[in-house]
Amino acid sequence: MAAEDKLVQDFLIYKIGSLCAISGVIWIFRDTIRYHTFQRFFAWIMNKITFRLNRGLKKYKTKVFQFVHEYQESVNKDLRILEVGAGTAANLAFLPSNTKLVCLDPNPHFVSYIKKNLKQHDTVISAEILHGYAEDMPLENDSFDVVVCTLVMCSVKDMEMSLQEIKRVLKKGGLYVFLEHVGAEKNTWRWISQCIMNPFHWTFGDGCEVKRETEKVIKEAGFSHVYMEKFYPKAMPFWCKPCILGSATK
Ligand SMILES: C[S@@+](CC[C@H](N)C(=O)[O-])C[C@H]1O[C@@H](n2cnc3c(N)ncnc32)[C@H](O)[C@@H]1O
Repeated sequence: MAAEDKLVQDFLIYKIGSLCAISGVIWIFRDTIRYHTFQRFFAWIMNKITFRLNRGLKKYKTKVFQFVHEYQESVNKDLRILEVGAGTAANLAFLPSNTKLVCLDPNPHFVSYIKKNLKQHDTVISAEILHGYAEDMPLENDSFDVVVCTLVMCSVKDMEMSLQEIKRVLKKGGLYVFLEHVGAEKNTWRWISQCIMNPFHWTFGDGCEVKRETEKVIKEAGFSHVYMEKFYPKAMPFWCKPCILGSATK
């Protein structure tokens, strides 16, 4: 082999070898890297945008929590409420007074924001912050009056499993209330924009997907009564619409 060819060969082996080694290290430490980068960034950004998002969605969130207030009036007692994918505990202002709240979220970077927000609201009489996933909740059967999920089904790994878990932890007759952005009708401009934006959302939105058929999955989850309405809020980007809100009874 000519000296030049040997040089090229050595160079390629060195380059490819280094690339493989770097990729291997990234793969092995992928969860740690995600924890310190994307998850930390996502919690920080959610804390920055929650106030504005809540202002834009106020009309719709008020409607969602109207179901909870009506439920409380019908059972006439303080409610034990689980907020799945609580984020910064964005819904504290909408809760009925004297709520016993449990916030569940897999991203530990939200804890400090939740604690800070809890200090600023007086709707809650007791609060617990738990680390966990909607698909496998570290909670007892039949232990909550209400489960709240806002903008969460887009991010869970398994919607069917998450909904079965929500049903499991709800008391009989208990209420699941939701507000979600969902996939648009196929082959429309909005759906095409969702197909384009989906990888970016997934990467920078901590696993959020914009074209899920969430309505169908909620309707088929086996709740005794499901109410759902679709809307197009100005506060959400073009590709994060339509949204749905509603309630379902165990
Ligand atoms: C867009 S944020 C919404 C936060 C909050 N519910 C709100 O309305 O502002 C999505 C939340 O879902 C959480 N999440 C992601 N995957 C989850 C899972 N498998 N189980 C429960 N929560 C999850 C994220 O950590 C994040 O807090």
